[in-house]
Amino acid sequence: MSSTAVARLDRMPTGIPGLDNIMQGGLMRGDVHLLTGGPGTGKTILASRIAYNAIANSGETVVYATFEESTDFFKRNLARLGTNFTNMEKEGRIKIIDLEILRGKGLESNIAYLLDIVGKAKATMLTIDSLTALLLACETQFEQRTFMKTVYKSLKAREVTTLMTVSLNEDGRIGPEGFLSDSVMFLENWIDKNQFKTRFIIQKMRGTDHSRRYHSLTLGPDISISRF
Ligand SMILES: Nc1ncnc2c1ncn2[C@@H]1O[C@H](COP(=O)(O)OP(=O)(O)OP(=O)(O)O)[C@@H](O)[C@H]1O
Ligand SMILES: [Mg+2]
Repeated sequence: MSSTAVARLDRMPTGIPGLDNIMQGGLMRGDVHLLTGGPGTGKTILASRIAYNAIANSGETVVYATFEESTDFFKRNLARLGTNFTNMEKEGRIKIIDLEILRGKGLESNIAYLLDIVGKAKATMLTIDSLTALLLACETQFEQRTFMKTVYKSLKAREVTTLMTVSLNEDGRIGPEGFLSDSVMFLENWIDKNQFKTRFIIQKMRGTDHSRRYHSLTLGPDISISRF
C-alpha cells in the first residue's frame, strides 16, 4: 500500500486522522462515494466531519442534504462533537438542506431540486445523508436503479465530489447503488471483549490503491481511524 504525503489535485482530503493515508490522499474529486453501515455506526458523524474539513482545509463549497429530525437539531448535535457549521453557513460555504420537504414529491422533482441547489450554490461537494431515505421515494427497485443512474450521470457531469450515506439492514447487503458508485466505505459495529466498537473498511474505490484491512473508528470530537 503506497501513501501520499503531498496533497494531490485529483484528491479531496477528508482530514480525518488516519483516513487519507489509506486512500492515496483522499476522496477522488468528482466521484460518487458511498458511506454505508448499520444504524448508529457513525455515518452522519463521519460524513459531516469530512464535509466540515473539506470546507475548512480545502476551501470547498458544500451542499449538505439531511433527513435528520430538523436542520437545527442536526446542527446542534454535531456542534456538540466539535463540528460547528454556524459560521460556515453564514459565510455561504455550506448550505444545509432539509430533505424532509421533498417527501411525497416525485422523483424527478427531487433530483431537479437537489441539482438546482448544487448549481446555484456553485457547490464543489454534495453530501446526501441519507441516500436510503431519498430512495424511499422510489416505488420499485427498477425506479431506484434509474434514479441512481440519473443522479450518478448528472453529478459526474458537474464534477461535484459526492458523499452519500447508505443505511444497511440486518443482512448488510447493499443495493444497486453499490454498483452505481465509485467507492463504497463500510462501517460496522461489533463486540470485542464485551465492548461495543466500530470498524471501518474500504470495500471499493475506483482508481485507488486503498487499504483492504479493517480499521478501528473512534467517534466523538477526536474522530479518527487507526490500525488494529
Ligand atoms: N460524543 C460522542 N462521543 C462518542 N461517540 C458518540 C458521541 N455521540 C454519538 N456517538 C456515537 O455515535 C453513534 C451515532 O452516530 P451517527 O448518528 O453518526 O450514526 P449513523 O450511522 O448516522 O446512525 P443512523 O443510522 O441512525 O443514521 C451513537 O450511536 C454513538 O455510539
Ligand atoms: Mg445518520
